[in-house]
Amino acid sequence: MDAKEIIVNLGERSYPVLVGSGCVNEIASYVRPTVKKVAIVTQESIGVDIETGKEQKTFYLPIGEHGKSIETIKELCSSWVNWGLTRSDVVIAVGGGMVTDVTAFAASIYHRGVAVINMPTSLLGMVDAAIGGKTGVNLPEGKNLVGTFWQPQAVICDIETLTTLPEKEWKCGYGEIAKYHFIGAGDLRGMELELQITECIKLKTDIVAQDEREGGKRAILNYGHTLAHALELENQFSLGHGEAVAVGIRYAAQVAFALGRIEESRVQYHEEVLNHFNLKYVLPSQVDAGRILALFERDKKAQDGITFVLDGENGVELVKVENQNILRNALEVIQ
Ligand code: GLY
Repeated sequence: MDAKEIIVNLGERSYPVLVGSGCVNEIASYVRPTVKKVAIVTQESIGVDIETGKEQKTFYLPIGEHGKSIETIKELCSSWVNWGLTRSDVVIAVGGGMVTDVTAFAASIYHRGVAVINMPTSLLGMVDAAIGGKTGVNLPEGKNLVGTFWQPQAVICDIETLTTLPEKEWKCGYGEIAKYHFIGAGDLRGMELELQITECIKLKTDIVAQDEREGGKRAILNYGHTLAHALELENQFSLGHGEAVAVGIRYAAQVAFALGRIEESRVQYHEEVLNHFNLKYVLPSQVDAGRILALFERDKKAQDGITFVLDGENGVELVKVENQNILRNALEVIQ
């Protein structure tokens, strides 16, 4: 195995992100010797075998974004109680972003906090969701509205788990990779997959180390996400997260252009990069602009009016957008 280890520097809560082929076999070395029980949380379709050398049991989450709910958290915690999992044990989340978000949230509140190791098995999970300690579930009112910051003990990204990834999941991963392209990772086009993943992880871990709780800089990781979260909700999750992020990036470029922050050539560059990653998504025709604008106001970043992460001459930054006509017109442009 030839894996690379990238450290998330958070003082005594620092942890490694391991990237490489076959590194699932390293997972036992990240389980502390004092641990007696290991709860593995996954979905039936994932099919990754984990061997920790400890007493272990597998717990299955439902498939689909609708399972990302408070009800799932309650059921998971109850099943851990019934199995006798204690606060000195460990939970391993094996799956995509939904699995790591839900499992880490449950771990963060179970017995006031049990350790979690994330093993993302989707491209999106490896480059974004499994790293940085954001956990959460959805409410009917919006995405990820309830959650915690709970840093994992380690993140294990085994590239081999991607070999069976469905086409839609590749697109979702590349939606996030396109985001990193615009927020400071440099030109990720033409690199081999493992290097693309490593470059995204390096940028993410650097941003998280600077601003763990999203008091400032971390907000740029939400490039393309304001529209994405609204679309996912409005479209009842028929668009995957990264697909919605691709539409959101296209939209953010139009809003930045309308506000005079970027030139038309930069909008064109956004199109080129998205097309390079085969992310030719436009706004679904049935989307109701009024409802989308209402959802923007509920976004977690909207603490004092509607806020977007927008490109500009200083790179991407958080910008308050007060002109609703600009937001509405930009929705029409990306249809
Ligand atoms: N996915 C955005 C963040 O971790 O902050």
